[in-house]
Amino acid sequence: MSKNLCITLFISFLGILRVSGNISGPRNKTDLFSVIFTENDLDTWDPPKELKKAFPYYWSGFDEDCRPIWVGELGKWDLSKYISKGESSLKAMQKLIHQGFYRLFVSINDTPPGCQPATQIAVIYDADGFNYNQVIHGQVISFFLNVFRVYIPLFLQYMESIYFVNTNFMFKGLVEVARPISGSLMERVEVYGPNKSLWLPKLLKKLPRDQLSPKYGGNKDFKPIKSYNY
Ligand SMILES: *[C@@H]1O[C@H](CO)[C@@H](O)[C@H](O)[C@H]1NC(C)=O
Ligand SMILES: *[C@@H]1O[C@H](CO)[C@@H](O)[C@H](O)[C@H]1NC(C)=O
Ligand SMILES: *[C@@H]1O[C@H](CO)[C@@H](O)[C@H](O)[C@H]1NC(C)=O
Repeated sequence: MSKNLCITLFISFLGILRVSGNISGPRNKTDLFSVIFTENDLDTWDPPKELKKAFPYYWSGFDEDCRPIWVGELGKWDLSKYISKGESSLKAMQKLIHQGFYRLFVSINDTPPGCQPATQIAVIYDADGFNYNQVIHGQVISFFLNVFRVYIPLFLQYMESIYFVNTNFMFKGLVEVARPISGSLMERVEVYGPNKSLWLPKLLKKLPRDQLSPKYGGNKDFKPIKSYNY
């Protein structure tokens, strides 16, 4: 990993921290949702097939407290490709990610029978295969910053936990550096490395096996609640 890449990543992390430090006080759900999700076609919009394939994610199941568990296959997301393809492809990608967050946060309202309404979500971001070189692109960094700026009030209020798995040493190191200065969000972020035999037992202490894909210890016949990778 080049030194430049390390420095770029570190600076982008500081940027994220600075942005996330500027959070106006907690707002109520209706208020927060209507400010962030202003479009009214997020339930119905069908993204181009190629794009759906390129940004896979799914609603995996529920945890013991009926919180929705989502999985984002972050390692497969080639942000720089869609950013460099031009304005319309960038816009479509942004909308797909926006729709993904929308689905994630509205799933709170969709608890199974016999459950109290959930107030939070758990997310697994799987960085397996992530191309760290794409992060050198300035546009990818500003894209990340923007995602944080827009969604961080929702993260703070509705994320019970975020698990990054299959991250490399660089990612892990940066998060460890960031942890003490980024407050309450980082308390809910777990960063696990590439060795599955080390992180899987920890993940399964928090999330029920039968709600997860075989990649995360689940059964072969596992079916997600809703899949958005086609
Ligand atoms: C913090 O956010 C408010 C409202 O979104 C904005 O007006 C203000 O300029 C921001 N402050 C900094 C230091 O970014
Ligand atoms: C949420 O906030 C909005 C505007 O601040 C207010 O009109 C609405 O009544 C609030 N809803 C609840 C459930 O508190
Ligand atoms: C992963 O961790 C296990 C348990 O500590 C160890 O036995 C194994 O050699 C590790 N695998 C790799 C590829 O480092």
